[in-house]
Amino acid sequence: MKRPDNPYKIKVENHNKIMAFEKDFFNKFQWKWNDFFWNQNPIILEIWTGMWNFFSKESSRNLDKNFIWIELKYKRLYNSAEKSIELWTKNFIMLKTFAQNIDKIFWKEELDKTYVFFPDPWGKKDRQKKHRLFQEKFIKDLYEKTKIWWKLVFKTDHLEYFDTTISLFKEIWLWKINILSNDYENELEHFETKEMTEFEHIFRKDRVKINYVEFEK
Ligand SMILES: C[S@@+](CC[C@H](N)C(=O)[O-])C[C@H]1O[C@@H](n2cnc3c(N)ncnc32)[C@H](O)[C@@H]1O
Repeated sequence: MKRPDNPYKIKVENHNKIMAFEKDFFNKFQWKWNDFFWNQNPIILEIWTGMWNFFSKESSRNLDKNFIWIELKYKRLYNSAEKSIELWTKNFIMLKTFAQNIDKIFWKEELDKTYVFFPDPWGKKDRQKKHRLFQEKFIKDLYEKTKIWWKLVFKTDHLEYFDTTISLFKEIWLWKINILSNDYENELEHFETKEMTEFEHIFRKDRVKINYVEFEK
């Protein structure tokens, strides 16, 4: 039996703050994001956004920056876009695509800061690990797309994923580590944490230690 269509698919496709990228779209993709936003403000990216809490509040608080969010799920995209509009936020666009497509979405040195919060860690076995976001190609692509001196912030509750990722970054030897903590909630005074994502909220409530790293290009 055919599965009913996701009711959020059509809402996403018709939403003027969400772009749903199909494969062949990338062949036509040519603008620079500052031209798209009609200003020269810094560009902040959040990958694996999930729901809206962190990003819609960040974008409503920082009207002098442009925000781009990448997420896959229709319902999360739609609800997040609507929540941001409720906050009178205009300085954002949401992209429905795989985060691994950043090589096709950005020009060299377009990004100021990228946030990656609590991406699914997947399992340790090779066949599972290949789904992890942080792979050599992605790390190099993001480096190329980031402006010099600018940042990537990664948080996860999953220590094995965190340690494996840090080792991989060290092997690739491009990004510099500025800040690293395996329990950042207890060292909060060093960090910028005005808003939390939905996952961080749950982990903090359950007293789970959160790993945090800030890389710099
Ligand atoms: C574990 S949730 C974390 C959400 C959020 N960052 C937070 O901290 O609450 C991961 C989210 O990433 C999205 N996602 C998974 N794989 C993705 C991919 N390859 N590209 C973009 N988003 C992805 C999922 O749809 C899901 O909403």
